[in-house]
Amino acid sequence: MISYTVYKVIHYIGIFGAVGALVALLARIGLIEASPGATDPWRRRLVALHGTGLFLVLLGGFGMLARLEITHGLGLPGWIWAKLVLWGGLAIFVTVGKRAPQLAGWLTLLAPIFAILAGTIAHTKPF
Ligand code: HEM
Repeated sequence: MISYTVYKVIHYIGIFGAVGALVALLARIGLIEASPGATDPWRRRLVALHGTGLFLVLLGGFGMLARLEITHGLGLPGWIWAKLVLWGGLAIFVTVGKRAPQLAGWLTLLAPIFAILAGTIAHTKPF
């Protein structure tokens, strides 16, 4: 049986992968925007790392919930719903940045703020 600690490590690996790839993608979107006609040769691998990271965040998160014996479904506590919303933000930032490259700089700033908020919410469980 996979332990709480292993799920937590999976959660952290996912966070580093997802946030790292997201910030790299957004920074490169900003660079490419300034060089008309250029494309990003790393885009596919960074998108793959971002997606895998997001998946691992959920796998580790729901794994920990199971070990903590916290109910699944609509009975989840408020702090988990808040984290799911922040997770959704980190998931759509790539698409938003691609469609609106002028926002890439702001999204690069928002991404770590969302991650810090998600961590703080898990630590303090304010609701
Ligand atoms: C937005 C991305 C996320 C980040 C950056 C993040 C970050 C963190 C951090 C730093 C912790 C450790 C807190 C501590 O032990 O003091 C943690 C714990 C946890 N996270 Fe996440 N998290 C994210 C998304 C999620 C999601 C989507 C879920 C829901 C499935 C989730 C479920 C949990 C659970 C259950 C814990 C353990 C809480 C405990 O042991 O009391 N996280 N998270």
